[in-house]
Amino acid sequence: MKTQAPPKHSKILILDFGSQYTQVIGRRIRELQVYSEIVRFDTSADTIAREQPNGIILSGGPASVYENGAPQIDPKIFSLGIPVLGICYGLMQMAHHLGGQVRYTGRREYGAGTLDVTNESQLFDGLGAQVDVWNSHGDEVTALPSGFRVAARTSGSPFAAVEDPQRRLYGLQFHPEVAHTPRGREILQNFVYHICHCTMDWTMGSFIDDACERVRAQVGDNKVVLGLSGGVDSSVVAALLHKAIGDQLTCIFVNNGLLRAREEEVVQRVFGENFHIKLKYVDASERFLNNLRGIVEPEEKRKVIGNEFIKVFEDAIVDLAKPDHGSPSNNHQFKFLAQGTLYPDVIESIAIGGNPAHVIKSHHNVGGLPEKMHFELVEPVRQLFKDEVRQAGLQLGLPKEIVYRQPFPGPGLAVRILGEVTPERLRILRDADTIVQSEMEASDWYYRVWQSFAVLLPVQTVGVMGDQRTYDYTIALRIVESQDGMTADWVRLPYELLARISNRIVNEVKGVNRVVLDISTKPPSTIEWE
Ligand code: XMP
Repeated sequence: MKTQAPPKHSKILILDFGSQYTQVIGRRIRELQVYSEIVRFDTSADTIAREQPNGIILSGGPASVYENGAPQIDPKIFSLGIPVLGICYGLMQMAHHLGGQVRYTGRREYGAGTLDVTNESQLFDGLGAQVDVWNSHGDEVTALPSGFRVAARTSGSPFAAVEDPQRRLYGLQFHPEVAHTPRGREILQNFVYHICHCTMDWTMGSFIDDACERVRAQVGDNKVVLGLSGGVDSSVVAALLHKAIGDQLTCIFVNNGLLRAREEEVVQRVFGENFHIKLKYVDASERFLNNLRGIVEPEEKRKVIGNEFIKVFEDAIVDLAKPDHGSPSNNHQFKFLAQGTLYPDVIESIAIGGNPAHVIKSHHNVGGLPEKMHFELVEPVRQLFKDEVRQAGLQLGLPKEIVYRQPFPGPGLAVRILGEVTPERLRILRDADTIVQSEMEASDWYYRVWQSFAVLLPVQTVGVMGDQRTYDYTIALRIVESQDGMTADWVRLPYELLARISNRIVNEVKGVNRVVLDISTKPPSTIEWE
C-alpha cells in the first residue's frame, strides 16, 4: 500500500469489499475535509497499524459472509484500538468475526426505510429520534457480539445500527454515504470528527502546497514534459507543475486535426499567453488525416490515432532536444513525463462475484506513453477525485471554461463522424458542434449536463431548400447526463432550445438538411456513437 499524504494529515482508511459505493464513501469523507484512502479488504492489521489512520471504514459489498471465497477482513484490525465503522457487508464482517451471528436471508432488503434511534449513540448525535435511510443488503445480523448494543432499529431490522463504544466499533446495516440517506453526511461527520477526532486539514490549498513540494523533491532540477490535451486533468497538471517548477516544465500540445473549432487557440491563449507556460504547439493535422484515409471501423480509427499520437509526441520531444533549442542533442533531456492520472485510476479494483468489465471501447488518452523513452512518471494529482481536480484547477487560476469543460474523447471528432473521416465531413461536424456548444452555453445548459455534442451520420436524405431539392447529411444530437460516464441518460432539454439548435444547424451548416435527437440510455447504448 502506498500512501502519498504527508503524515501530518488526519486520515481515514476505507477497506473495499467491492461495493459500488466505495468510492462514494471516499469522496464523502474528503468532502468533510478529511483525507481518505481506499485499500483492499485484505490489507493486514500490521500494514494498517503502520499507516496510523484516525479511523477505518469497512465498505459494503455484494458477497454473503458465508459464501465460498467471500472476502474476509484480518480480524486483528478490530483490536488495533482504531475506531471502525462497518457499513452493510462491513457490519456483517464485524459481527461475524467478533462472535455475533449473521444470517443469509436469501432476499435483499432494498430501498428506503426509517431508522428509530434507540440510545445516545455518538454516531447519531444531533439527528433526533428518526432518520430516513437507504438499505441494500442480503445478510442480516441476528445476534450481537459481546460488548455490542443496539443503537438504532428499523421495522424490519432490530440491528440496523450497533455499537461497542468502549472499543469504538460501530456498524450500520444501511448506507449513510448515498444521497438517499439525506442525513448520512451528519452520521459520517459524527464518526470522523467526534469518534475518530479527525481535523479538517484536507483542503485544496494545502494539497497544492504539499503537491508542489513533492514534485520539487521528486524532479530536482531535471526537466519534465507533459502532453497537454486541453482536457481538465492535463490542464490542472500543467498549472500545478508550472507553479511547482516553472520553466523546468515543457508542455506539448498536439493538434491532431480532430479537435473542436478554435480549440488550439483556446489552449495556446490560456497556457501560453496567460500562464506563460513553455508550450510547444505541433500541428500534425495532415499526418493524422492522411493516416485515417479510407478507415471506417471505429476501433481501427482509435488504433491509428493512438499510434500516430505516440509518434508525433516522440518527434516533438526529439525536436525539442535539438541544439537550436539551446540544449544538447539527445532526447533524454526530459527525465520525467507528467501524467494526469486520477485517484479512481489508481484504486486497485477488486472484482467480487462478478466478471471483470469487458473492454467495450479502447480508450486512448494522452497518458500512457511513450514507453520506449523510459521516462520516470510525475503524477501530481493521482490522489485526487475528479471534483477535487476541478477545485485545484480553480485555485491555481485556471478559467472556468477549462475547469468545467465536458469530457472530450482522445480520438476527437473522428469517433463522431460515422464512416470515413474526410476534411469536408470534419468541416460539417465542426460547424454543427460549434452551434451545439454555443447554444448550450448561452442557455446555461452546458455546465448542467455531462456531454452535449453533434454526431455526423453517414446518411443522406432528401430535403428542400427554397425551390431546390437537397440531398444532404444528417446530424444527431447526443446530450446526456451522467455521474462518471459509466451509465448515462439523455437530457430532457426544453423544446425551444432543441428547436433553436436544429434550426441553426440546418440553416447555417452547409451540407446538412436534417437533425435528429438521440434518446437512448447507456446501457445498452454508449455515449459516443463509435
Ligand atoms: P462511451 O462512448 O464508452 O463513453 O459511453 C464514455 C465516456 O468516455 C469517453 N470516450 C473516450 N475518451 N478516448 C477517450 O479519451 C476514447 O476513445 C473514448 N471513447 C469514449 C466519452 O466521450 C464519454 O465521456
